Amino acid sequence: MQSFDLVIRNATVATAADSTLCDIGITGRKIAALGTKLGAGTREIDATGKLVLPGGIDSHCHIEQPRQNGTTNADTFETATTSAAFGGTTCVICFSPQFKGHGIADQAAGYHQRARKSVIDYSFHIIITDPSPAVIEQELPPLIAAGHRSIKFFMTYEPSFLTDGEVLTVLAAARKNQAFVVIHAENHEAIRWMTARLEAAGLTDAKYHAWAKPALVEREAIQRVIALAELVDVPIQIFHVSSEEGAEEIRRAQGRGLKVYGETCAQYLAFSAADLNRPGQEGSKFLCSPAPRSTADQAALWKHIRLGTLGVVSSDHAPYQFDGPEGKQAIAKVAPFSKIPNGLPGLETRMPFLFSEGVRKGRIDLQTFVAITATNPAKLFGLHPRKGSIACGMDADIAIWDPELTRTVTNAELHHAVDHTPYEGMTLTGWPVTTLVRGKIVMDAGKRLAEPGYGEFQPRETYPLMMPRGEFVTPFNPHDSDSQT
Ligand code: URP
Ligand code: ZN
Ligand code: ZN
Repeated sequence: MQSFDLVIRNATVATAADSTLCDIGITGRKIAALGTKLGAGTREIDATGKLVLPGGIDSHCHIEQPRQNGTTNADTFETATTSAAFGGTTCVICFSPQFKGHGIADQAAGYHQRARKSVIDYSFHIIITDPSPAVIEQELPPLIAAGHRSIKFFMTYEPSFLTDGEVLTVLAAARKNQAFVVIHAENHEAIRWMTARLEAAGLTDAKYHAWAKPALVEREAIQRVIALAELVDVPIQIFHVSSEEGAEEIRRAQGRGLKVYGETCAQYLAFSAADLNRPGQEGSKFLCSPAPRSTADQAALWKHIRLGTLGVVSSDHAPYQFDGPEGKQAIAKVAPFSKIPNGLPGLETRMPFLFSEGVRKGRIDLQTFVAITATNPAKLFGLHPRKGSIACGMDADIAIWDPELTRTVTNAELHHAVDHTPYEGMTLTGWPVTTLVRGKIVMDAGKRLAEPGYGEFQPRETYPLMMPRGEFVTPFNPHDSDSQT
C-alpha cells in the first residue's frame, strides 16, 4: 500500500466544484492521492469536523512596496506573509513598482531581494507609471518572459496615473508580450477638481474623501478603460470594484463577450462611507481608494460575486500605521483627507471575513468562497493548475478550517506589523487552524512553523484567460505594424 509523508484523514475537502469526504495523501510538495482508507503517513492529521480547502491566493496586496515619495508600507515580507498564513492564504501576488522617470528592471531585482523573506509563495505584478520606449521595448519583455506575467497601471494618483494614450501603449505591449493587465480605474481629473473645491470650502475631514471620489469617477474610468482594451483586444481585470455602478459596467462588457474580469475587496463588503466619519481621526483607518460606499453598494457587490461579475475578492492589503508621527492619525489631525495615506491592512482577515459574512450568512456557498479566494485568482493569473485547488499533482497548498470557531477580531491577535485593524471588534465564525504550503505545515494551532525564506517565487507562463480574442472593432488590426517589425 502506498505511504505518504503526510496524510490528512477524514477531510471534508471542498473545491470550487465539489465537497467530498476523503483522505489526502501528500508526498513532498505535492498532493499524491485522494481517497478513502489511504496508506499510512509519516505524519497524520485528523480533520474530522473540519473543512479542508485550497490555500487562499491573494492576488492584490502591497507588501514592502516603496513609493516615490519615500514612504513604504508598514509590513515587511516576513510579517505580511506570516499574517497571510494565519488567515489561510498560501500565495500572494504583490507589486514591483516603477517610479516616474526610472526603469522597471532594477526595481524588480530589488523587490525579489526583499521578497526572499517570504513565509509563503509569491509572485509579482509589474507596475508601469512611465511607459517610455526603453521600458516598453527593452525592460518589459524579459521581465514578462521571466514569469512576471501581469502589468498594473493606475488611472489616478499623482504622479503615477497614465494618460489614455499611455494606457493604449501599455495595453499593446501587454498583448505583444503576452501579459495580463490589471487596473486601478478612477478618473484622475475629476478627483483632482473635486478635491480642490472641497478643500477650498474647508471640507477637509476624512469623510470628504468619499465626496471627492464618488462612484461615478470609478464608473467612468471602468467604462473608458474597457473601451480602450476593446480597441486593442486585450483582456483586463478591473481592481477593487467598490460600487454597483462599477460592477454593472463590467457586467455589460462581459455580456458583450469581452474578456473583462472584476475584482472587489473584503473592505468594500465590510465598510461603508459612514465609517470614514467615525469620531476623532478614527475615520482615517477606513480611508482607501476607491472610497468605501453605501450599504446598498455592499449588497450589490455580494450580488455580483454570486453572478460571477466579480470573480476575485482580494485584500488590497496596503498597511499604514495609525499612531506615530507619520501615521494616519497625525496626518489627519493637521492635513486634509487628500494627504492621508490610502489603504487598509487585510491579508489575515480577508478569508475569515468572507467565510463568516459570506458562507455562514448564506450570501455565497462554500464553492463560491473557494472560487473567489483561491481557484479564480489562480486561473486568472496563471498559477493554475499548479495552485488554486485540491487535486492529485497540485502543490499541497491547503488550509484546514474550523467552521465553528468564533473569534472577535483584535489587532493584538493578528500577525501583521500594523498597529490597528479596521476589523477590530468584529465577531467572525470560521477560521483556519492549520495552513500548509507545498506540503509543509507553515501554521498550526496559533504557531508559525516555517521560517522566513520558505516562500518561493512563482513564475507564471501564458494561459488561456489572458489570451486576446483576436477580434477588432474595425477591419484594421492595429497591431499589424508590430508584427511586421
Ligand atoms: O487605497 C488603496 N487601495 N491603496 C493601495 C494602493 C491602491 O490603490 O491599490
Ligand atoms: Zn488601487
Ligand atoms: Zn492596491
